[in-house]
Amino acid sequence: MNEAASLAGKKILLIVSGGIAAYKALELVRQLRAEGVVVHAVITRAGEKFISALSLQALTENPVSTDLFSLDAESRMGHIELSRAADLLVVAPASADLLAKMAAGLADDLASTLLLATDKRVLVAPAMNVRMWLHPATVANLALLASRGVAVVGPDEGPMACNEYGPGRLAEPPAIVAAIRSMLASGLASGPLAGRHALVTSGPTHEPIDPVRYIANRSSGRQGHAIAAALAALGARVTLVSGPVALPDPPGVSVRRVETAAEMLAACLAALPADIAICAAAVADWRVADITGHKIKKEPGAAPPSLTLVPNPDILATLSAPGPARPRLVIGFAAETDDLKENAEAKRRRKGCDWIVANDVAAGSGIMGGEENEVLLVSEAGVETWPRLPKAEVARRLALRIAEALGA
Ligand code: C5P
Repeated sequence: MNEAASLAGKKILLIVSGGIAAYKALELVRQLRAEGVVVHAVITRAGEKFISALSLQALTENPVSTDLFSLDAESRMGHIELSRAADLLVVAPASADLLAKMAAGLADDLASTLLLATDKRVLVAPAMNVRMWLHPATVANLALLASRGVAVVGPDEGPMACNEYGPGRLAEPPAIVAAIRSMLASGLASGPLAGRHALVTSGPTHEPIDPVRYIANRSSGRQGHAIAAALAALGARVTLVSGPVALPDPPGVSVRRVETAAEMLAACLAALPADIAICAAAVADWRVADITGHKIKKEPGAAPPSLTLVPNPDILATLSAPGPARPRLVIGFAAETDDLKENAEAKRRRKGCDWIVANDVAAGSGIMGGEENEVLLVSEAGVETWPRLPKAEVARRLALRIAEALGA
C-alpha cells in the first residue's frame, strides 16, 4: 500500500515561499528527516521574512539556497542540477504569488527558475488568505497547474492568522508527508492507473438559508473518500472535491473542500481535464433562491418564513455531456429506495454517464452513513449485482474495474 512505502533515501527539493505558514516548513523538514529523506531547501526572499535560511540549513543539514546568482552556490551545485537531482519538488507553503509565477512560467528568482527547469513531479501545498485562495486568478492558476500534472495538497479550512475563516491554511505536515509518500510510491510502483487523472466528488452539500442555517443531507462521504483512496492506491492522480464531511483526507489525494453544489461544480470544472470522473457526492437537488445576508428573525406571532427553492446544477450530467473535456469514463451513483435496477438504468441514460453504481438507501438498510454498501453496477453491457461489502472493498473493486475498462 502507498501508506506503507518507505521514504528512506528519497531526495526532496523543498521550496519555501512567503507566508505566515512558513514556520510549518520547519516541522515538515523534521518529519521528512525522521523518515530518512534527504532534503535540500530553497527559500524565497519573501519566505526569509518569516523564517531564516539558517533554521532550514540546521534541520536539513544541507546548504540552503536563496539566490539565483550566487557564485558560491553555483560552484557547489548548479541550480538546475538541484532541481533535477531530486525525486520530487515540494513547494510548502506555496504562496499565491509563486503559484501565479508557476502558472505563467516566470523564472525571475531561484525558486521559480527551479520550478521551470525541473523534469520531476511537483507537489504544492498552498497557504494564503482565504480571499486570495478564492480569487478567480488563483482558482484559474491552480486549474492550469493541475492540468499540467502539478499535485496539490490542502489548503485546510479554519481560522486564519488574518482573523478570517475559510480555506487557505497550509495542510498539516503529516498530510504533506502522506501526499509525498503517495506520489513517490505511485511513481515507483506505477500502478495500473499511473498517469491517469481521476476526479471524485464526495459527501453532502450544504445549501445556505441565511448566514447561520443551511439545508443538508445525511451523506457521510465514506464511499466517495474510499473510492478516491482506492484510485490513488492504483497509481492515479486523484482530485477529490468534497462537501463538508468529518473524515480525514485520503493520503496522496488532492482535496478541494466546498460547501454548495455551485462550488462543487466550479471545483470539478476547474479540475478538468480528467480521464475518469466519479460523482459519489449526495448533491442537494435544490438551493434557496434568495439567501438573506442576515439571520432570519423569529418574530413573535409571525408566520414561519417560506423558502423558495431553485434547482441546483447537475454535476454528473454536466461532466457527462459530450465534448472535448468529457472524461473517458464517467460514473454516477443512484441512491434509491425502490425499483433499484430500473431507476438506475433510466438514470444512466438520463444523465449520459457510462456507469451507475446503484444502492438501496431504504430506511433500515444502514447504508447511508454506514460502513457497508450493497451495490449494482449498471453499464451499457448490463447489470452486475455485488454482495454486501465494506465500503473500502466496494471502492477497491470499482477502482480495479475502472483500470480494466481503461485498458490498463
Ligand atoms: O439525480 P440523482 O441525485 O438521483 O443522481 C445521483 C447521481 O448524480 C450521483 O452520482 C450524484 O453524485 C449526481 N448528482 C450530481 N449533481 C446533482 C445531483 C446529483 O452530480 N445536482
